[in-house]
Amino acid sequence: MWRDVGCIDDLPDGRGVAVTVEGEPLMVVRLGDRVFATHGLCSHEDKPLAGGHPEDGCRWECPHHGARFDLATGRATLLPAVAPIETFPVRIEGGRIWVDFE
Ligand code: FES
Repeated sequence: MWRDVGCIDDLPDGRGVAVTVEGEPLMVVRLGDRVFATHGLCSHEDKPLAGGHPEDGCRWECPHHGARFDLATGRATLLPAVAPIETFPVRIEGGRIWVDFE
């Protein structure tokens, strides 16, 4: 089901924003014209990903121990994380960010 998680104008480019949907932590990231939504916790030690930063295009570096994830697929691309993070489809409509969260 699609959920409204905020206004696109309030999402700074290159920053991760933590949002909560139905009690679950998610992270929303804007990289230029692209917006990604992932689970909000790192698969390494369940710490918040939102304080991290983009690396190598659409990869996200966890602020805690430096693991990296592909924002489009959730795949872990750098240790210490080995498990992927969940990703969610995103659409922008009427200036709002919609995330397809089951
Ligand atoms: S919690 Fe993310 S790399 Fe350790």
